[in-house]
Amino acid sequence: MNAGILGIGRCLPERVVTNQELETMMDTSDEWIRTRTGIEERRIAGDDTDTSDLGYEAAVRALNDANIKPEDIELILVATVTPDQPFPSVACLLQERLGAKKAAAMDISAACAGFMYGMITAKQFIETNSYKYVLVVGVEKLSKIVDWDDRNTAVLFGDGAGAVVLGPVSNGRGILSFELGADGSGSKHLYQDEYVIMNGREVFKFAVRQMGESSINVLEKAGLQKEDVDFLVPHQANIRIMEAARQRLELPEEKMSKTVHKYGNTSAASIPISLVEELEAGKIKDDDLVVMVGFGGGLTWGAIALRWGR
Ligand code: UT7
Repeated sequence: MNAGILGIGRCLPERVVTNQELETMMDTSDEWIRTRTGIEERRIAGDDTDTSDLGYEAAVRALNDANIKPEDIELILVATVTPDQPFPSVACLLQERLGAKKAAAMDISAACAGFMYGMITAKQFIETNSYKYVLVVGVEKLSKIVDWDDRNTAVLFGDGAGAVVLGPVSNGRGILSFELGADGSGSKHLYQDEYVIMNGREVFKFAVRQMGESSINVLEKAGLQKEDVDFLVPHQANIRIMEAARQRLELPEEKMSKTVHKYGNTSAASIPISLVEELEAGKIKDDDLVVMVGFGGGLTWGAIALRWGR
């Protein structure tokens, strides 16, 4: 019995901040941001919206999509590095607001790889018959930890949330294989002091190597080949990093999800946000083989090969 995705939802703040608007705030240019990152605009949440508000909206949509009641959720995992406060966890705030009375709840801190960590943790509980339904949310309000005077980081990030309900799915579908990893020796390259501090070039080199390698590894673990992949959903940090992963898998352009131009890097939320985008566009269908892969501060990484469908 495999764990798979029963329902999915997302929430993006309405306010769009374009590269042109950033040009008026700091020494940068639309041309630089587009060519170096692929980003054209991002969504930024207002002061009255915190991480848990975005996560709540995405979670409600995922529960509705799965047609599962909050009381049937037995575990809530929230991947975030921008919780409303250090504790209680965002997961506990969601448990209360959703009325998920039976659910245990905790946050997961694995930065941009957090959603992969959450999905794979959920899978263990489901496939050991410990819990039937687990809610996994990837959510960030990065705008509150970005230094708006630091052009090296301020242009990259955006706010948003994505959520999935995981549970048992029919034979042959669901999570077929996974890989998780960490390298704490790279913690100095991407961290939060008061604001996000990043050594972009070091993270870039790591990401290009890891995204390709992890994608290949999950295929091997599932006994599959590059040619079997129907869709790649990479963490949306930088189009050049995503392109490197796509080329490693020898996939045509139309088989890779690309939302980075619209939403920037939303960290733990980027993979589920992109999944919703592709589902709504009808690009992912039942029995498609989907590879998801992410990397982030820690350094951390994670990948999943999943056969779509309930
Ligand atoms: O989810 C994980 C989060 N992190 C990442 O994914 C980041 C991975 N790294 C990257 O995406 C890229 O390294 C960046 C997009 C951050 C930077 O691109 P790059 O091609 O590695 O540029 P660079 O760091 O080598 O900087 C090139 C130049 C520098 O000027 P000098 O020193 O060559 O004169 C920067 O000061 O670009 C300058 N620069 C900017 N110029 C205009 C840096 N940021 C900006 C900016 N606007 N916003």
